[in-house]
Amino acid sequence: MTLTDALNRPLRDLRISVTDRCNFRCIYCMPKEMFGADHQFLQRDQILSFEEITRLSRIFVSRGVRKIRLTGGEPLVRRGLPQLVEMLSAISPSLDLTLTTNGSLLAKQAQALKEAGLKRVSVSLDSLDDAVFKAMNDVDFPVQKVLEGMDAAAAAGLGPIKVNMVVKRGLNESSILPMARYFREKGYILRFIEYMDVGHTNGWRLDDVVPTAEIVRMINDEMPLEPLEPNYQGEVAGRWKYKDGSGEIGMIASVTQAFCCDCNRARLSAEGELYTCLFAIKGHNLRDPMRGGATDEELSQTIARIWGGRSDRYSELRTENTVDLPKVEMWHIGG
Ligand SMILES: C[S@@+](CC[C@H](N)C(=O)[O-])C[C@H]1O[C@@H](n2cnc3c(N)ncnc32)[C@H](O)[C@@H]1O
Ligand code: SF4
Repeated sequence: MTLTDALNRPLRDLRISVTDRCNFRCIYCMPKEMFGADHQFLQRDQILSFEEITRLSRIFVSRGVRKIRLTGGEPLVRRGLPQLVEMLSAISPSLDLTLTTNGSLLAKQAQALKEAGLKRVSVSLDSLDDAVFKAMNDVDFPVQKVLEGMDAAAAAGLGPIKVNMVVKRGLNESSILPMARYFREKGYILRFIEYMDVGHTNGWRLDDVVPTAEIVRMINDEMPLEPLEPNYQGEVAGRWKYKDGSGEIGMIASVTQAFCCDCNRARLSAEGELYTCLFAIKGHNLRDPMRGGATDEELSQTIARIWGGRSDRYSELRTENTVDLPKVEMWHIGG
């Protein structure tokens, strides 16, 4: 049964953050100065158990969700993740079950994830240059290990591999062309993401954003491109293919070309808060009613009420005044 919100957008896509922890400190997401050794992460009993995540997911699927993406923090630092994948994949064979990861632990887990029923992975990588990548992940993590993770995922059958690259002005623009050349050769789909003003700890400024139109021009000058039709309504990445037929790339222009009008995505945080927008200030607690004994029907009604009342379109309304609002952090709800 399809649920639609106050702007007539259906609920189709659910992102689940399985942990608020991460082994990276990407400067645009979890800056080290704010997330140091003394940062208080959630305790085990505060985060949803695999059973709780599966129960809520089943209810979301009964309400029209067709795609679930596991994310974090870094989802692969949550112990036993393949077990959760197995539980979720049992909900429905047609459920599109995917994962976004920084790739650091993927080589070890790719095969088990595939066997558990995961369909595809997206791997984040911001540069092929170790110095640039290390400056961005801020934990001295080398590029090679992420590439090995991607290759292990491809070998396990988790392709087509998508690679997410956040571009920040003055930091990794020089990595755009080398990344495009390398992943075109590999046959992985590279997607460029405009640096976003999620949360309020990354010190975002509009000047730091490299518009995707600029990236398209840069690549097109060397490797001619043409636009492709979206795969489905609500797809956030604009698609482009190389004119010589050697593959495609994606552009996630969430700052310069907001896509709120088609947004069909809900987000569940590790502690069971439901967010109806990436830029939300507040979530809706589903964990406490669930732990307090709510039935599936009651939880389903709650979700329907929250989605039915949804009118968020932050990216379309973005102004300088919204930058300082206490928005939820990206690592908290998983991007
Ligand atoms: C929050 S991470 C969670 C999953 C995993 N740790 C990873 O990095 O892929 C999900 C995605 O959000 C992106 N991201 C984080 N902060 C961002 C920001 N300020 N602007 C744009 N993208 C961002 C990351 O690059 C990553 O591709
Ligand atoms: S983008 Fe992903 S890998 Fe980087 S700090 Fe955020 S959650 Fe961790």
